[in-house]
Amino acid sequence: MKPKVYVTRHLPEEAWRELTAVCDAAIWDEEFPPPYEEVVANIADKTGLLCLLTDQIDARLLEAAPQLKVISQVAVGYDNIDVAAAAARGIRVGNTPGVLTEATADFAFALLLAAARRVGEGVDYVRDGRWQTWGLTLLLGQDVHGATLGIVGLGRIGQAVARRARGFDMRVLYHSATRRPEVEQALGVEYASLDDLLRQADFVSLHVNLTAATRGLIGARELGLMQETAVLINTARGPVVDTAALYAALQSGQIAAAALDVTDPEPLPAHHPLLALPNVLVVPHIASATVSTRTQMALMAVRNLIAGVRGEPLPFPVG
Ligand code: DGY
Repeated sequence: MKPKVYVTRHLPEEAWRELTAVCDAAIWDEEFPPPYEEVVANIADKTGLLCLLTDQIDARLLEAAPQLKVISQVAVGYDNIDVAAAAARGIRVGNTPGVLTEATADFAFALLLAAARRVGEGVDYVRDGRWQTWGLTLLLGQDVHGATLGIVGLGRIGQAVARRARGFDMRVLYHSATRRPEVEQALGVEYASLDDLLRQADFVSLHVNLTAATRGLIGARELGLMQETAVLINTARGPVVDTAALYAALQSGQIAAAALDVTDPEPLPAHHPLLALPNVLVVPHIASATVSTRTQMALMAVRNLIAGVRGEPLPFPVG
């Protein structure tokens, strides 16, 4: 008999085929995430759970899953999962690191360039019928080449962003919990305290996991250290930035612009005050959204799931 698993969203065909060859899968096949109680109701007889970052996997849910052996998340970030509660029950947890590094770094750079050169405002300007002539001072932005980039969090994605910055002749500062001399050498990046990085950088790009230590890492005090011409880019997790403080900093001109792939709250409601500001670019958490990357993420998650239901160590365990 095939092991029973619950899958909280539609998967790419290739991944679904691999999964169903081994498992008896029940799926929530909708565009929106399953309600929490739906997952609770479905998990009682399952040995595996394949979930997304929009699913809250907490201790109460795990209590309702006495047979669960594995939680396999289709994402590298897993702040939605109570990993300690899972470990206490002997449940393995896996994620999808590595495969989304380059796509996410590409996108962080796309946001950086778009915010620096006011691409969103330019598009709106044309669509609104305001384009009447070429203007010497029309939509002036910031130079990216030769500017200073501050990378907060020098893990895989932070390093991939640093590599891209070299092609733009940027000076790259980084801050992370541990100093990385070998990476400094290899990538030509300089370590700075967070405060020094914020003071010096023209662009600040966030690449930390969401943890108790990084929640609210960028608040009013930190934004106050940044230059008036500085741009903040967030492709990490929304709650790393204090949204109210960011709004105030953008509205008052304390910083020049922000480009956000992730927000707090997420999704950001259409009437949110941030969206009324011209110097904010918000996109719906799509930094890893390429066909190839998302397919590879799903396949990795399926391989974690299959190993877990078989009681084997996961090929890509969290941590
Ligand atoms: C992740 O994997 O954590 C991203 O936020 C989505 O790809």
